[in-house]
Amino acid sequence: MDLTYGDYLKLNQLLSSQSPSSDAHEEMLFIIVHQAYELWFKQIIHELDSVRTLFDAPKVEEKDLGIVVSRLTRVIEIQKLLVSQIQIIETMTPLDFLEFRGYLPGASGFQSKQFRMVENKLGLLSKDRLSYGSCPYHASYTPEDKKLVLETENEPSLFTLVERWLERTPFTEYLDFNFIQVFNETFHKINSEDKEYIATAEGITETERELRLKWNNQAREYVETILDKSKFEQLRSEGKLRLSYKAFISALFINLYRDRPILFMPFKLLEALVDIDEQLSLWRHRHSLMVLRMIGAKIGTGGSSGHEYLASTIEKHSIFKDLFMISSFYIPRSTLPPLSPQVERDLGFAK
Ligand code: HEM
Repeated sequence: MDLTYGDYLKLNQLLSSQSPSSDAHEEMLFIIVHQAYELWFKQIIHELDSVRTLFDAPKVEEKDLGIVVSRLTRVIEIQKLLVSQIQIIETMTPLDFLEFRGYLPGASGFQSKQFRMVENKLGLLSKDRLSYGSCPYHASYTPEDKKLVLETENEPSLFTLVERWLERTPFTEYLDFNFIQVFNETFHKINSEDKEYIATAEGITETERELRLKWNNQAREYVETILDKSKFEQLRSEGKLRLSYKAFISALFINLYRDRPILFMPFKLLEALVDIDEQLSLWRHRHSLMVLRMIGAKIGTGGSSGHEYLASTIEKHSIFKDLFMISSFYIPRSTLPPLSPQVERDLGFAK
């Protein structure tokens, strides 16, 4: 007999894996939503592992970059689904939840090992995690699960692999072309023109003028600081930046010159990483608000402060924050410094 739909998908196993602990009607929804999440986490891990394998090579082929971007785009679409799934669990009211919450002492999404594996594979460092009582996140795991999850802390994360790849990107310091110097000069020129405009602008009060001049100054100082290697390293040692200087400058170059065909895929990759981080933060935010309306100020079944802990992870557990900050350096396309003839040639735009 041919393979049936049910056999192929192991539906008997899958559909007999929902065992509510109570008679509460809503507990089935609670179980199925969590299980659906876990299946999607499995798919995300599958995509992240394939992307990490493609990146873990001395040279990432251009055709592979296309595959990487399409797989990461799939991850982003799954994440959007995961964010909107919260609406389904919110059809259960806090009172409905109370009907069976007491049957779950000690069990919490906090213990989801696949969620931690996703975080680790993306590049969340254990030293950057919010401390959660005095317990590490794997405190309740079996020895096998703990080993599995700790392995994902030790293998090169997507963050690390992308950082290494960015560090290998040529062009930013290229014989006759010093990207940092030409960019700095251009940024200064634009910033000074803005400053002049603010200084003489009509129709604003002196307080507004002062404030805008202060912001203009801050923007210039920020850019100067980041472009200066030793100041950059200082900020990095204080934990305010994570990417290496070389990787950051390459990411900036790719973002600015993204319209060049050869840089388009690298740009799409960096954009995908920002999207993944943003979707993860959106999920954290939606989940933390759902928890607030579900249990208010009560502590979680996993023993955390509940909403307060979850809300703090939104900022603290962001992984690709440095890539978001690159927007501080954007200047209008029309003012981009021209590339040197040699870089133009090697990027494939000149004969
Ligand atoms: C009634 C619904 C839910 C409530 C009241 C709830 C409550 C909580 C609370 C209070 C925490 C903090 C840890 C603790 O003390 O337990 C937490 C963490 C977590 N929950 Fe939920 N949750 C709900 C639904 C879900 C769903 C559907 C998922 C999907 C997998 C989920 C995944 C997680 C994860 C991954 C964490 C760890 C977050 C982190 O440490 O950054 N939760 N949950």
